Amino acid sequence: MKNIITIGGSTSKLSINKQLAEYAGSLVEGVEVVNLDLNDYDLPLYSIDIENETGFPKDLKKLNALVEETDGIVLSLAEHNGAYSAAFKNAFDWLSRIEGKVWRNKPMLLLSTSPGPRGGQSVMELALSRFPFNGGNITGSMTFPSFGQNFKNGSVSDEDLNQKLSGLVEQFSKTI
Ligand SMILES: Cc1cc2nc3c(=O)[nH]c(=O)nc-3n(C[C@H](O)[C@H](O)[C@H](O)COP(=O)(O)O)c2cc1C
Repeated sequence: MKNIITIGGSTSKLSINKQLAEYAGSLVEGVEVVNLDLNDYDLPLYSIDIENETGFPKDLKKLNALVEETDGIVLSLAEHNGAYSAAFKNAFDWLSRIEGKVWRNKPMLLLSTSPGPRGGQSVMELALSRFPFNGGNITGSMTFPSFGQNFKNGSVSDEDLNQKLSGLVEQFSKTI
C-alpha cells in the first residue's frame, strides 16, 4: 500500500496547520497516512559548526528517511511574520543539507492557514517560489482563511472551502 505523510509546519501543540494537514490527509483514499509532528524531532538550531562537529542529528536522519520513502506529502505551513515558522525553517534547512532536493519530486499538496483572512498568503508565496528549487512537485495549493470560523469539529465547515480542498485532494490523489 502506498503511504503519504502529513506535516504541520509548526511546533504548536494545538497547531491549526497540523489539524488542516491531517484533515486533508484523511481525505486521501487507499493510502496509509503517517501524521508527522515536528515536536518529535530533536533538531538543534542549524549551525554549520554543529554540522561539522557532530554531523547530522539522529532525528534528522529519521525525518529525512520518512520524506525519502513516502509517496506523497501534505504540508500546511504556519506563517510567522510573513515567513516560515522557525521550527519548520530549521527542519527544512537541516533536511537540505542531506539532500538539496528536499522534497524529491514527490507529489505535494501545499496548504497554509492562519486565524486571519489571508490564511498565510505570504508564507504560501514564499514556498511556491522556493520549493521548486528543492524538488517540490506541488500538485495544488490553497491558503485557508480564518481557520477558527471555517474549520469546526474536526472538519471544514465552509462549503466553498470544503469543495476547493476536496478538488485539490482529488488532484493530489491521482498523482500518487
Ligand atoms: C511570532 C508570530 C508571528 C506571526 N506572524 C503572523 C503573520 O505574519 N501572519 C499571520 O497570518 N499570522 C501570524 N501569526 C499568527 C499565526 O498565524 C497563528 O499563531 C497560527 O495559529 C500559527 O499556526 P499554527 O497554529 O499551525 O502554529 C504569528 C504568530 C506568531 C507567534
